[in-house]
Amino acid sequence: MTKLLAAITGVGSYVPDFVLTNALLETMVDTNDEWITSRTGIKERRILKDPDKATSYLAIQAAKDLIEKQQLDPQTIDLVLVATATPDLLVASTAAYVASEIGATNAFSYDLQAACSSFLYGMSTAAAYIEAGRYKKVLLIGADKMSSIIDYQDRATCIIFGDGAGAALFEPNTEGLGLQDEYLRSDGIGRNFLKMEAGGSMLPASIETVKNKQHHVYQDGKTVFKFAVSNMADAAAQIMERNSLGKEDVDWLVPHQANNRIIEATANRMNLESTKVMNNIAKYGNTTSATLPLLLADYESQLKKGDKLVFAAFGGGFTWGSIYLTWAYNN
Ligand code: UT7
Repeated sequence: MTKLLAAITGVGSYVPDFVLTNALLETMVDTNDEWITSRTGIKERRILKDPDKATSYLAIQAAKDLIEKQQLDPQTIDLVLVATATPDLLVASTAAYVASEIGATNAFSYDLQAACSSFLYGMSTAAAYIEAGRYKKVLLIGADKMSSIIDYQDRATCIIFGDGAGAALFEPNTEGLGLQDEYLRSDGIGRNFLKMEAGGSMLPASIETVKNKQHHVYQDGKTVFKFAVSNMADAAAQIMERNSLGKEDVDWLVPHQANNRIIEATANRMNLESTKVMNNIAKYGNTTSATLPLLLADYESQLKKGDKLVFAAFGGGFTWGSIYLTWAYNN
């Protein structure tokens, strides 16, 4: 029997129109373009300004982009996964709403939360269903409205995050193309260093939590940076070693976009020249669950069938890992 692999057969993306530039941030907090650019590589981010629109709006637009490009009948989708750290509502599944709105009426759907590693882990979930032969079309969407949980008076976080969404369709492949290997890890110690303190079961919302600004993202940037640099690079190196991939074999590194210095450290560890490193951090900042699919959408026209891609991410929790995938189509 031919082995089934899970291949990405289409991608889509969406970012809101409003551009929050470094110059604009200079008018809001004590920061400057030189500091932000040299410390992170970020020049601007997109913000969903409409107060009536939530993460589902971003996800729906990205899914519709994919559906239109691929001429996909949404009724043929079996499963819709929404990877997000900012669901519309805490209890109701955002994915269920997204699936209904895009016409995926024969699908079941649920959310995945692993902070900035949500999409990476979601790739593993999507692939497992396909490889097992359980489902034929799995739509994985990474979407985050980070602006809904950012304190725009906190210069340690507001310069980093942005809003956006990306989508990827996973289908069975019998040519040996698709997800080849994964190395996924987590360490619960990390929740002390990157979190939103209130609003969960540990600290439900109260007047005090609002007054204390505990419904915003808190990050101990230096500590997260140290863990991110070593773990993301380690995971990518592990994947290369396990699959006997030399630097000349890898066509693209697809790294989570949190900080240019973390991306560079990962690429250096892999001995990879910068032309093989996907990067759009200057335009969008850190969009959490959306960084990886936004990269795929931005670089889709340069990807060729058979290209070897190494994905790597690190996020809150801590969660991190790397995935080796071969690209399945020419554009
Ligand atoms: O995606 C999920 C995972 N998240 C990450 O991977 C993020 C990891 N962390 C980082 O990317 C970096 O730690 C940051 C970009 C958040 C911060 O960069 P840093 O080089 O670690 O800066 P720092 O926090 O050590 O601050 C250095 C200096 C401090 O001043 P002093 O004490 O040296 O006088 C800060 O007060 O820079 C100051 N500073 C700023 N200055 C201008 C901190 N934030 C700002 C700012 N503008 N926005």
